Amino acid sequence: MIKIIVLVLISGLTLVTGLQSTKACPCQPESLCRPVNVGNRPEVIGFTVYQNAWLHYNWTYLTTLVLDEVQLKNVDPHLLCYAHARNVRLLALVQFPEAAIENETLQQSWTVETIQMVADKHLDGINIDTEKYYPINSLKAKKHVDFINRTTIAFHAIFPGSLVTYDAGYIDNCEQNSCSDSITIASVVDFIMTMNYDENGRKYAYSNSPYYNTVKGIKSYLNAGINPQKLVVIQPWYGYDYKCIIPPGADYCIIKEDSALASTNNATKPKRRISKFPFIIPSDDWKVDPNQASITYGAICNRLRNHNNTRKWNPVTKTPYFNYKRNTGEIHQVCYDDAESMRLKSDYIFSMKIRGIGVWTVDFTDYTNFPKESAALWQSLTFGLEKMP
Ligand SMILES: *[C@@H]1O[C@H](CO)[C@@H](O)[C@H](O)[C@H]1NC(C)=O
Ligand SMILES: *[C@@H]1O[C@H](CO)[C@@H](O)[C@H](O)[C@H]1NC(C)=O
Ligand SMILES: *[C@@H]1O[C@H](CO)[C@@H](O)[C@H](O)[C@H]1NC(C)=O
Ligand SMILES: *[C@@H]1O[C@H](CO)[C@@H](O)[C@H](O)[C@H]1NC(C)=O
Ligand SMILES: *[C@@H]1O[C@H](CO)[C@@H](O)[C@H](O)[C@H]1NC(C)=O
Repeated sequence: MIKIIVLVLISGLTLVTGLQSTKACPCQPESLCRPVNVGNRPEVIGFTVYQNAWLHYNWTYLTTLVLDEVQLKNVDPHLLCYAHARNVRLLALVQFPEAAIENETLQQSWTVETIQMVADKHLDGINIDTEKYYPINSLKAKKHVDFINRTTIAFHAIFPGSLVTYDAGYIDNCEQNSCSDSITIASVVDFIMTMNYDENGRKYAYSNSPYYNTVKGIKSYLNAGINPQKLVVIQPWYGYDYKCIIPPGADYCIIKEDSALASTNNATKPKRRISKFPFIIPSDDWKVDPNQASITYGAICNRLRNHNNTRKWNPVTKTPYFNYKRNTGEIHQVCYDDAESMRLKSDYIFSMKIRGIGVWTVDFTDYTNFPKESAALWQSLTFGLEKMP
């Protein structure tokens, strides 16, 4: 194990040194290309998937931005310099290389390549996404942890101040004795991020991220012994649009059961890609009409305002929703999060001394047409923090 760390360190350092001649720093001064090196701080994390919205983010609040593949392919040099000048870290979203669990050669080359990529792009670390779970206490589970441990140690040695983070389900609940051992992983990485969304059911229109699940999820991790400073809770800036098969009488909406949901409706798994459903964005606001679709907060604002719908409040989930009728006569219900539901969750998160809050994604609000709503969303994130002594 030690040999691999040394190998990784040596090749990593060689790559970093060799790189300075080939990959020029686009920022002035060049020190802005070095990883942000600040002590622990409360985190406000944004995931980003589109390239054109970053100037609209509220940089007063943001501490860390996680770049999905679209952003990562061509990191905007202006974004890089702008973020680093404000001590905001940029992390690369990377898939955990499952095939490497049993193959140390592969592990080593993955780590070296990932370090090279982060160095080339002048980033501040990685966020590891995983889809695989191993029986707890199994040899594979241990190898999984060892791999992440070695990767983290290499990153910290090569890039002082860098972050290695890991994605987990919203609740620390090992289904069929199989889970990602998030507590041990949290002890080796800088922090884990729980994906608190896609918690809706498949028979009724329901909240994407009920308040009580955020509470239940955080309690499950704390009860399992996590250091609260190793936990960041990610909330959605999107919701779901459901086609009701009977009109929502007493304000609930039965939907046509969607078999695609059966496989995604598993609360313990981090679910980052919502590709199983069409995603409604403002530009195709009225085009999509499935039984169930993901819908950005920007498109939700558009439906609320431009179509004169009435926002309602679900006191059980502590999240908003509204019903509307299509031209075809179909009744739909939209369940989502807004500044009010986010404030409540932020309040709880920071009152529990959790490291931070985050958003999937900060591009899902419509900064141009709904600047007030967007500003309120950003402000809601730190609601709990500002109340702290
Ligand atoms: C960001 O938040 C700060 C603090 O609330 C506020 O003063 C500022 O106007 C906000 N900036 C934007 C672009 O919304
Ligand atoms: C491990 O991965 C390397 C690099 O891909 C490959 O050449 C080697 O055959 C693999 N070893 C085993 C035992 O699968
Ligand atoms: C991580 O690696 C370090 C250095 O080898 C070791 O001391 C520590 O126990 C490891 N942590 C876990 C959880 O395996
Ligand atoms: C989700 O968890 C259940 C146990 O509650 C399990 O039976 C099922 O296989 C899991 N689904 C997926 C897609 O892994
Ligand atoms: C919404 O209400 C406004 C003001 O009453 C009206 O001008 C507009 O046509 C309405 N829009 C729709 C889609 O009904």
